[in-house]
Amino acid sequence: MPGVRGSGYWIGGSILVLIVAITLHQELSGPSELPRMAKDLQTLREDFRQLNKSCFILGASGETGKELLKQILQSRLFSKVTIVGRRKLDFEDEAYKDVNQEVVDFEKLDEYSSAFQGHDVGFCCLGTTKAKSGEAGFIRVDHDYVLKSAQLAKAGGCQHFNLESSKGANKGSSFLYLRVKGEVEAEVEELGFERFTIFRPAVLMVDRKESRPSEWFARKMLSPISYLFPTAYSVPITTLVRAMLNSAVLQSDKRVELLENKAIHTLGKMEEQEQKS
Ligand SMILES: NC(=O)c1ccc[n+]([C@@H]2O[C@H](COP(=O)([O-])OP(=O)(O)OC[C@H]3O[C@@H](n4cnc5c(N)ncnc54)[C@H](OP(=O)(O)O)[C@@H]3O)[C@@H](O)[C@H]2O)c1
Repeated sequence: MPGVRGSGYWIGGSILVLIVAITLHQELSGPSELPRMAKDLQTLREDFRQLNKSCFILGASGETGKELLKQILQSRLFSKVTIVGRRKLDFEDEAYKDVNQEVVDFEKLDEYSSAFQGHDVGFCCLGTTKAKSGEAGFIRVDHDYVLKSAQLAKAGGCQHFNLESSKGANKGSSFLYLRVKGEVEAEVEELGFERFTIFRPAVLMVDRKESRPSEWFARKMLSPISYLFPTAYSVPITTLVRAMLNSAVLQSDKRVELLENKAIHTLGKMEEQEQKS
């Protein structure tokens, strides 16, 4: 059946071309230049340290939150670090000895408003999955807990709120995950933080302890693709966290910043790019 085989090759070839075109578009679109800076990164960090700012992290037991806490302590950017979570975490490393822990009941967050008081900067890396918590549980964590925490943080004096959202977040989406992420972004924006930074990472490249077969499969599939097209569909968690901290020390004239995956790569690799130039 040469005719059927020929049309099969044609369809297969067309799909391949389409995938490559979409991947190239993802890879090439968006900013890849560093934001304009009057000072180098080291000086900006030093200036930031002098401000003696305090911060809190929501989700410090998770993959992003863990790496964020580690890098925050290594960089000594903040004079006080608080983690807010549903359980107390044990740290053996001396570096963690001054970390302040606030254990809260997320179902009764109003009763824990003091946990959110007095922090200049907040990082929210909370989240669950529909597979783990069901649809209602996912909305509860990724929307309700995030929004309530942001409200309490705002009331408690937080000036700069950082939200880890997701690539494709869109409040008009028919996909629950993307819709909820888009909704919570918009609702936190309405709270009117002096500065609100939204990070929209693609698939996080990390050796996750928890078993998540679909994410594991996506990471395995994406490994060779991310070698060729590093910013199209994924981001190493270390790069995301560096981007969060570099963004925090950079001055911004925008009240709301939306950082898509490519911008996250650019910001997260500022040091390497500075060294090259
Ligand atoms: N995974 C990806 O590839 C990917 C890609 C783009 C965006 N994101 C988004 O990025 C964010 C962080 O992702 P991640 O993979 O770093 O998160 P993660 O490892 O799953 O950690 C989630 C954090 O949220 C907390 N949490 C979950 N359910 C909770 C509940 N019911 N009550 C209180 N706390 C709860 C966890 O605390 P416990 O340790 O106590 O459970 C943990 O600290 C999420 O919003 C996620 O949607 C992820």
